[in-house]
Formats: sequence, C-alpha cells, structure tokens
Amino acid sequence: MKTIDPAVNVCLTSESIDRSYPIFIDGGLLSDRELLDDLLQGRSVCLVTNDTLSELYLSQVLAALGADRKVTVVTLPDGEQFKTMMAIEQVLTAALEEKHERSTVFIALGGGVVGDITGFAASTFLRGADFIQMPTTLLAQVDSSVGGKTGVNHPMGKNLIGAFHQPIAVLCDTQTLETLPDREFSAGIAEVIKYGLIADKVFFYDLIDNAEALKSRDPDVLARVIARCCAIKADVVSRDEREGGIRAILNLGHTFGHAIEKEQGFGKWLHGEAVAAGMVMATRISVSRGYVPSAVLDDLLLFLKTFDLPCTPPSGMTVDVFLRAMQGDKKVQSGRIRYILLSALGEASIVEDVSESEIAACL
Ligand code: NAD
Ligand code: GLY
Repeated sequence: MKTIDPAVNVCLTSESIDRSYPIFIDGGLLSDRELLDDLLQGRSVCLVTNDTLSELYLSQVLAALGADRKVTVVTLPDGEQFKTMMAIEQVLTAALEEKHERSTVFIALGGGVVGDITGFAASTFLRGADFIQMPTTLLAQVDSSVGGKTGVNHPMGKNLIGAFHQPIAVLCDTQTLETLPDREFSAGIAEVIKYGLIADKVFFYDLIDNAEALKSRDPDVLARVIARCCAIKADVVSRDEREGGIRAILNLGHTFGHAIEKEQGFGKWLHGEAVAAGMVMATRISVSRGYVPSAVLDDLLLFLKTFDLPCTPPSGMTVDVFLRAMQGDKKVQSGRIRYILLSALGEASIVEDVSESEIAACL
C-alpha cells in the first residue's frame, strides 16, 4: 500500500491463508484512487450503498474507481427495516445479472446496515467473494466494519442470519462524518466509550476529558479516537474471531440493548442508543457488586448526557419484559442468558448469574 500506511492492522491467524487486513483512517479516503488501485489490482467491483449515501458520496467513489473498471452499483433503500434477506437477494441478483465472477470485489459504502448486508452477500456470492468496507457512520468506523460479523435481521430477531466473513480492507474516511446527523453521531459515541470501559482505562478518561472536542467533531481527535477503538477491536477479534469466548466482551450493554431495540420495535431506538442505556445497566450492576467505583458510573452518565444519549431503559420495560426479550438473544447458551459486566474499569467479564433483583435495581 503506497498511498498511506494503515492506521491499524487486523491480524487473524490461520494455518493456511493470510486473512490479515489493513484499516485506513483519514480524511478523503473515498477519493483516493491510488489506494483503491492498490487494493483492487484491476478487479471488477459490485458497489452496494443506499439512497442517502449515493446522493452524498457515490460520485466521488466512482471517480476514484476509474472509468475503465467494471463497476455495478446496487442502491438499497435506507433503513434497518430493509436489512433482510430481500436485500441479500437484490445484491446477489444484480451481481449475477451483470455476470460478475468470484474475483469481483464487493464494496460497502455506508453505515452498519449496508456493511452487514454487503459482507453477507459477498460471503455467499459464488461461495465467497472479497469485500471492502467503506464505513460512513461513526458506529460503523469504530465497530461494525471491523471483525467480520455480517448478516441480516429475521422477524424473530436481530442479526439472526449471517456469516463471519472478514473484509480485505476497511477505509474509514473521517470526512464523511461531517454529514452524519447528530443523533447518528451520538449513537456511535456509545460504542466508542464502550471500548474505554471494557479494555482501556486511560482511553476512558481521555474520552471523558475530550467530550467537548468530540462533540464538535474535531477531526484530529476523531481520527485518534477511531484508531484506538479499531485497535482494541482488532486485538479482541484476533484473539477470538468466532466469539468462542473473549470477543463477547465487545457486547457490553448489548444484551440489555438488544432487548430494548426488540421491544420498542427495530428502528425506534438506534442501536447505539439502546447500547448506551444497556451499558449504564451493566455498569450499575458492576458498581453494586463492588467491581468498579461509583465514580465510573457518574463519569459515564455525564459523558452520555453530553451526547444526549439515553441513560435509562424506556419506561414500561419491566424485568419480565427484559427476561423474555433476552431469551431470544444470540448470546443465550443452553437457555442461560450471558451478561457482560465490568470486573474493573478497563476490564470486562462474561457472567450468567445476574439476578432478577439486580436487573430490577437498574430500571
Ligand atoms: P445505518 O447504517 O442505518 O446508518 C444510519 C443512518 O445514517 C442511515 O440513515 C444512513 O443512510 C445514514 N448515513 C450513514 N452515513 C452517513 C453520512 N456520512 N452522512 C449522512 N448520513 C449518513 O446505522 P449504523 O449505526 O451505521 O449501523 C447500525 C447497524 O450496524 C445495525 O444493523 C447493527 O446491527 C449493525 N452492527 C453490526 C456490527 C457488526 O459487528 N457487524 C456491530 C455493530 C452494529
Ligand atoms: N459488535 C460486536 C462484535 O463485533 O463482536
């Protein structure tokens, strides 16, 4: 790669093939023709985006892909409710109709929804094609574009159908965050503070100290923060790609958060908003067990409020509603719900013994 050095490398060990990949983080990457030429090496492209992103960024990506390359564009409707098998069929049909081959590289230009759909479609196209993530939301840049979880929702629950399929590269163009609506930006911030809580105490306080700079989307602070989040995620994923163990710590707040999303109806609460309220619940339980001091909870609440993120679950979500909703979660093993708690600030653990009264105390 000669244009710029990757900010982070994801190193996945495998006996036979090298599945490591670079994560580039910089302003203007979507227009970087040299970088795309290096990554694609003359290969055709099936570019998947949605109708919001195509208005904003498609022309610059197409220009960078070059007029002499075969490129098929698939524009999906925008929204979590379209993250279904129908979207997969739409992408695959377009690629087949345009006679793409297994050497074609799929590109996901968009947030987590487009990224999850594109990755899953690529994993099944002719039994598996390469794909590149071009995440355009903060949440996608710090979380969903890295680590190879791809998939779609089923009426019975979120992300229930999918595959582990790693991208060949991730291009986080920080300039795209300038057009991101405030609510979406804040939803990404919830995943950002998660990394401090589960893996890096110094980073946690760095975020607390820089909350205002982050809120004003200072590009230097953002680039540094995104790089740290990606590095933490890359480290966790490289130790446990298929979530046999440690990777589950990335789900701090998600067990409660998915229950909130499901009960409210997908799309009403943004994923990051539900994770914010879920992280507060998990941190409250960790404080009440004496694992972390209450000052951590106070700092977390202040930080989340700076970004107008919810700190409590919606009223009406009783313990029974939570338990019923959480039983359908992917993290349930042998009928037992698994929770992520903080064992200390910057350390997380997986537990199954959270009691109904502990949940009730968070509501
Ligand atoms: P999203 O993809 O729905 O994007 C949010 C909204 O912002 C959309 O309307 C989108 O069109 C718009 N948008 C995106 N980039 C923009 C930009 N630069 N400027 C203006 N508007 C822009 O939501 P998301 O928060 O990025 O992703 C949420 C999805 O990611 C969920 O489906 C969730 O399940 C999934 N997810 C996956 C993983 C994983 O590891 N694969 C991890 C976390 C979340
Ligand atoms: N977002 C959690 C994970 O990638 O494992």
